Amino acid sequence: MSHHDKMIPRHPFAIRLWHWWNVIAMFALGLSGFYIHAPLTFKLFSTMDTARTIHFVAMWMLAWGIVYRVFFAIYAKDYKNVLFRLRDFKDFWSLTLYYLFIKNTHPDYGKYNPGQKLMYTAIPIFAIIQGITGFIMYWPNTFSGLAYALGGFVVIRIIHYCVTWIFVIMFLVHFYLDMAEGLPVLWSMIHGKIPADFHADVKTPRPEKKAEAEA
Ligand code: HEM
Repeated sequence: MSHHDKMIPRHPFAIRLWHWWNVIAMFALGLSGFYIHAPLTFKLFSTMDTARTIHFVAMWMLAWGIVYRVFFAIYAKDYKNVLFRLRDFKDFWSLTLYYLFIKNTHPDYGKYNPGQKLMYTAIPIFAIIQGITGFIMYWPNTFSGLAYALGGFVVIRIIHYCVTWIFVIMFLVHFYLDMAEGLPVLWSMIHGKIPADFHADVKTPRPEKKAEAEA
């Protein structure tokens, strides 16, 4: 592949803008969150007030970023690209063989592979769990009933902490796999385009998909 290859659009501007917006929000939430959890170990902020304010502002940033992304998925019918459906499960086998370097090719999954779809669909679900557990801890008196129904404040705190780690692990997997596919994937999230024949040799056409589309 050379840099003279024809480039085709991959990510519209709105997706790129909100992707990086959400990345900033996620990093701010993670760093301030670890400080709030263990301020003496994780000496990144001067005071608890600073960390809590950052955590709160970043929470609203992420909330709006996700609302926008879900709106876009529906409005631009882009849910077809990102939404994980049960039938995507059967594609995990071919993807696993590809990721384990057992096979050099995989079926053409469409814009995102089943692993990406699973993770992208999981983000808003985990974010809602963080929102609920977060507000319970922020307004403990208002939500004491709900807190006890869910197992008490200790359980709420553990859930919030574990989901944070799920996000950290998802981020590491996301970053590694995108980089492993090649830098053009990273650039595509910056300038929006990708070479037309990128990984064309990796994707095998799907006869059954074609038949479905024509039916
Ligand atoms: C330094 C950190 C990050 C980098 C370098 C990065 C990079 C990328 C790249 C290159 C893509 C395009 C993948 C493709 O075209 O197949 C992508 C997609 C995506 N990333 Fe990240 N990412 C980062 C952090 C995050 C975080 C923290 C989140 C969680 C909010 C996230 C959520 C997503 C989503 C949902 C997509 C799909 C794009 C879409 O909305 O359609 N990323 N990322």
